[in-house]
Amino acid sequence: MNTVNYLRISLVDRCNFRCSYCMPTGEAITYLHRSEILSYEELLFLVGEVFLPLGIDRFRLTGGEPLLRRGVVGFVRALVGLPGVADVSLSTNAYLLEELAEDLYTAGLRRVNISLDSLDPGVFARITGRDHWHKVWAGIQAAHRVGFDPLKLNIVVLPGINEQEVPALAALTLDRLWHVRFIEFMPIGNTGYFEQAGWVDSEALRRRIRERFGLAQGTCYGNGPADVFQIPGAKGTVGFISQMSECFCSRCNRVRLAADGFLRPCLLNEADQIDLKTPLRAGAGAAQLRELVSELLLRKPEINFRERDRGTTGFYGRTMSQIGG
Ligand code: GTP
Ligand code: 5AD
Ligand code: SF4
Repeated sequence: MNTVNYLRISLVDRCNFRCSYCMPTGEAITYLHRSEILSYEELLFLVGEVFLPLGIDRFRLTGGEPLLRRGVVGFVRALVGLPGVADVSLSTNAYLLEELAEDLYTAGLRRVNISLDSLDPGVFARITGRDHWHKVWAGIQAAHRVGFDPLKLNIVVLPGINEQEVPALAALTLDRLWHVRFIEFMPIGNTGYFEQAGWVDSEALRRRIRERFGLAQGTCYGNGPADVFQIPGAKGTVGFISQMSECFCSRCNRVRLAADGFLRPCLLNEADQIDLKTPLRAGAGAAQLRELVSELLLRKPEINFRERDRGTTGFYGRTMSQIGG
């Protein structure tokens, strides 16, 4: 059984982008009220008194878009400063990174994963629903300048839309210490679009990159499911996250805390999530909360992808943007 040592914390369910693979089109999303979202104090209590004592010492901040939450820099500083925290990282669309990169670095953050689905501003706008390529690119440059390492770029590969850019995106790693990861599109949150668009097998992408540049095994620090390769002589690496063609659930090391305090055992399992906010706000002590979480952790291997087994993949109450990837 794999040890669970990694928690993805969704700081906010809102996002300022509308990525076609992430959010359902044309449907109104109900957002959480501020009072429903765990406060930073509550989050720090849960990390310090519940998750760290249970051996979960790696944390990734996600959203929606986590940088939209006010006070995020101070929260990062406090989280990094908690005794026992081994790793803090952030997944962002980089819209606000030009302004925040330096402060985040000073606060102690060292790792960022950034979505960059295209090098073409027009294609980027088509995918994300926002004409913000230049601002995102400026955010990536700022993160690079400040020295985030590893700096990872995430690309969800969409057939016929950004698929042809794969060699150019992989080539970003040639003279930059960037880690470019190609992600197979998953049917979560926007199943209609998934059915229409389909997904591209990582193996086909590897073949294309290998034919063009060559490809060897590589390494890059991370806690996630990427298979890492390197173009010979390149500074950075090329990774593949292949949740459609390869089931990596048996090596899953993570659980996810939603902004409103629901802890889910698996990206694909909403039915077995547990509510931590209600007992926390009702005055439950750390020991009681630890018991709730450890019970979920014990059951995790057996309930990991129960919903997928039931054939209900893609049918969730929450969108990918609300889960935080
Ligand atoms: P590091 O390796 O620590 O840098 O993190 P990561 O790659 O897990 O984080 P990131 O937020 O960049 O996620 C990249 C992609 O991996 C996203 O599309 C996630 O949805 C996907 N992913 C992350 N964890 C899981 C998981 O448990 N199951 C599945 N199926 N996909 C996941
Ligand atoms: N399939 C695969 N990856 C997705 N992401 C968002 N939605 C999907 C999906 N349907 C990715 C984003 C981001 C990460 C946190 O999750 O591209 O990089
Ligand atoms: Fe796009 Fe990330 Fe926002 Fe989803 S959460 S719409 S992937 S920027």
